[in-house]
Amino acid sequence: MNKFFAFCIVVFSVVLTFAQDSPTDFLPADFHKERRAAVREKMPPNTVAVFFANAERNRANDVDYIYHQDPDFYYLTGYKEPNAVLVLFSDVQENTEGKGYDEMLYVQERDPRAEQWNGKRLGIEGAKSLLGFEQAFNGKEFAKSAIDFKAFDKVFFFDFKNDYRDKRGDADLFELIKSFKEKTDYPSDFNATKQRLYSMIASVTNENRATVSQTLKRYLQADEDLKEDELLRSFVEANDDLLISDIKDKVALQLDANNLDSTFLIEIMGALRETKTEEEMVLLKKAVEISAVGQIEVMKAMHPNMSETEIQGVHEYVYKKYGAEYEGYPSIVGGGNNGCILHYIENNKTQVGDDLVLMDLGAEYHGYTADVTRTIPANGKFSPEQKLIYDIVYDAQEAGIKASVIGAPFRAPGEAASKVVAARLMDLGIIANTSEAKTYFPHGTSHYLGLDVHDRGTYEAFKPNTVITVEPGIYIPEGSDCDKKWWGIAVRIEDDILITEDGPVNLSAMAPRTTEAIEDVMKQPSPLDDFLLPKLD
Ligand code: GLY
Ligand code: MN
Ligand code: MN
Repeated sequence: MNKFFAFCIVVFSVVLTFAQDSPTDFLPADFHKERRAAVREKMPPNTVAVFFANAERNRANDVDYIYHQDPDFYYLTGYKEPNAVLVLFSDVQENTEGKGYDEMLYVQERDPRAEQWNGKRLGIEGAKSLLGFEQAFNGKEFAKSAIDFKAFDKVFFFDFKNDYRDKRGDADLFELIKSFKEKTDYPSDFNATKQRLYSMIASVTNENRATVSQTLKRYLQADEDLKEDELLRSFVEANDDLLISDIKDKVALQLDANNLDSTFLIEIMGALRETKTEEEMVLLKKAVEISAVGQIEVMKAMHPNMSETEIQGVHEYVYKKYGAEYEGYPSIVGGGNNGCILHYIENNKTQVGDDLVLMDLGAEYHGYTADVTRTIPANGKFSPEQKLIYDIVYDAQEAGIKASVIGAPFRAPGEAASKVVAARLMDLGIIANTSEAKTYFPHGTSHYLGLDVHDRGTYEAFKPNTVITVEPGIYIPEGSDCDKKWWGIAVRIEDDILITEDGPVNLSAMAPRTTEAIEDVMKQPSPLDDFLLPKLD
């Protein structure tokens, strides 16, 4: 049989095995391939980058939490299974037959028994035909591989969070990392944070010395091990140029003691993932749209006798109805005072009553997550106090969105929003001076959004095709030092903003935001009005 014909049959049968009645709008193999090329482009010559799949985590007895791939790993491979390693080389390597390659993927071996229990595996064939890897191997080959990590000027990797465990099997993440450590002479006392701080010292300039010193001080205060480190301590305390230069030399020596580098990938993956490609935007926009529809449907269905859990269920049902596999983070549904807990996920109040309900939820569609918050009155009408606070947050958010323009510093939306909140809380007599505003608006205003809800990025000036959240809030817990009439009011409004050459675009605008628009939608009938279930004893 002609070789090409045989190849087509293999690809066709693998596609049939894995794609029957499944969604087909995942990121294409070419996207991941191009992203790997973008990483290689940023790597200095004679270096290698190693990425590990996420760990599996136990939930109860022999049941694990639903597996979620490490977002960097997914971005570069499209592989969704655990126990895998990706190796990228800056330069083309040659195998024993003289064939060139610059990447290798080690995957879970096919295993009919394991697949009968836990689902299909792509295996080597799938990695080649569906993900487009020419060099794909079973995980156990990694230990035997001839890669000489010590021959490279640098080995880039993300340090292990030490939360993976040894399971049965000879090629699980534990074994893969163990092999990597053996092959690289990984020092038993390797400290990724210390290496990061040393790198900051090595590249410190007169201009950023004070900022670097402040950052280091914070790390030293929070970490006993770092506090003991002579070089870090002396840098923080140093105030003359000669001493600084001496510390820089000593730090450089330490950094050169081996070729392991767990800092570089943080920088370059941040720079790549911050800017979204067209393919990514299709999925991210879909996740945001689905989440906005969820908010609308809940506005229609909302009733004072609903529980927080039920409200959460309505959002999440809408996500699933549109094919969003997961939530990008645990859903937050807080009625009244519960909304003051910023990441409230118990969601177990049995009746939301006449309070405001703060709903911060995001659908995750094919890996990309939305992050949308709406705060609505459970009875359909904002009280005068609720409206006054809501409108401050609304105006603060408007100011924040307006400040989200190319070239503005990352902190611009936060500064704009905080100004509005501080001035208006003063006007209402809730605070006596603007510095107290942090008591009621204690969190940041923006973060990047993408594969992670708090996505990687550079946190430098805004660039085009970046997606951020703008999410000011005011939270007045029971017992606060202000008039009782404000107690238990918690408002956050959060939208997902695409930064473009033509200014900010609100991707979640479909979900009503003004008090008038929210009250209007809440008057509309909901299909759930007729969804009556039998009463249980
Ligand atoms: N939902 C988490 C956040 O808003 O950052
Ligand atoms: Mn957010
Ligand atoms: Mn949120």
